[in-house]
Amino acid sequence: MSGALLSPIRLRNGLVARNRVWLAPLTNQQSEADGVCSPAEQRWLERRAEGGFGVVETCAAHIAPDGQGFDGQLGVWGDHQLPRLRELAAGIARAGAIGLVQLYHGGVRSPSRLTGRRPWSASSFTEARPEFEVPRAADVRDIEAAIDAFEQAARRTAAAGFHGVELHGAHGYLFGQFLSSTMNQRTDEWGGSFANRARLIRTVARRVRAATPAGFLVGARISPEDFGYARGLDLDESLQLAAWLAEDGVDFLHVSLWDTTRNTAKRPDQHPIPLFRAALPADVPLVVAGNIWTPADAELQLERGADFVALGKVAILNPDWPLRAADPSYQPERGPLTPAQLHDLAISPTFVDYLRRFKTIVRDA
Ligand SMILES: Cc1cc2nc3c(=O)[nH]c(=O)nc-3n(C[C@H](O)[C@H](O)[C@H](O)COP(=O)(O)O)c2cc1C
Repeated sequence: MSGALLSPIRLRNGLVARNRVWLAPLTNQQSEADGVCSPAEQRWLERRAEGGFGVVETCAAHIAPDGQGFDGQLGVWGDHQLPRLRELAAGIARAGAIGLVQLYHGGVRSPSRLTGRRPWSASSFTEARPEFEVPRAADVRDIEAAIDAFEQAARRTAAAGFHGVELHGAHGYLFGQFLSSTMNQRTDEWGGSFANRARLIRTVARRVRAATPAGFLVGARISPEDFGYARGLDLDESLQLAAWLAEDGVDFLHVSLWDTTRNTAKRPDQHPIPLFRAALPADVPLVVAGNIWTPADAELQLERGADFVALGKVAILNPDWPLRAADPSYQPERGPLTPAQLHDLAISPTFVDYLRRFKTIVRDA
């Protein structure tokens, strides 16, 4: 192993991450009904900061009540959420990690059951799923309100004392619905060409950059190709988007790969990491996530050109992964674990219930 994984890295705004290990954003449903961060949610994240993660990122946090996509989702849309956000930011910083909030609007994935409103998206479209609610097509006021809400949420995140935000452009949520050539059928300046489909996330990136202090990190997460709810994406458009977001001033780009052992679907002989590295200026770090388990898996992604590795499932099961990764014989727990074992890893019963959908994480004794 080259050893780069555990060495510090200076970001271009001067902040130093103590290593290249990043806690991936993980929805955990532990917030209060009004979006306020709960003590259990704080404990889950602080425990990973104490375990040595260089960067600790929250779950997708909704920036407006009409953008909520999950029960118990963290919110950054109201000042009533600020005191507990302050405590969370302070806890992460106290343990030596860089703390980020992932900013999100669900678009069509924000059910009326949670928001009390019909969902809206780039266009009106249908999907063959029983629970699917046909969204109304956004009018310009919806788009402007969402841009303002992202800006206010970023200001609130900075006021709470976090080191930065990540705009959640991956996985087919509002930004992804606008980026999509299938979900976005608009004929105005917000649809059609890729420049128009990328306008929403780019406008928000520029607005958030301008609204927050120079030392505050502004990044973006994207999906490179179709997977799950992310549809209508094209690898070359995603590479163009990476370059554009760098022009817009993002401090890092996070590519959600789901499985870093795989090459791209469009060019099966090419791995996505060197392609995204080449699309970005040298001073914009590339973060990658997807099926990274061991320190050797992680080092391989750095050798391919990534600057950080984001860990999801393995971080749930191994809160001290970065502290233990220095040992070359370290074999992380792969699960599944019982609810009691997970509780000892600062995973509350609420989070355990959400994780039950991942059979490889939770098992009943
Ligand atoms: C329980 C769970 C919740 C997740 N929540 C989010 C989320 O809120 N935002 C996001 O961008 N990705 C989310 N993801 C995706 C992860 O950030 C990560 O990209 C993915 O799990 C692949 O990494 P892994 O193989 O290390 O788990 C979630 C994944 C899991 C398993």
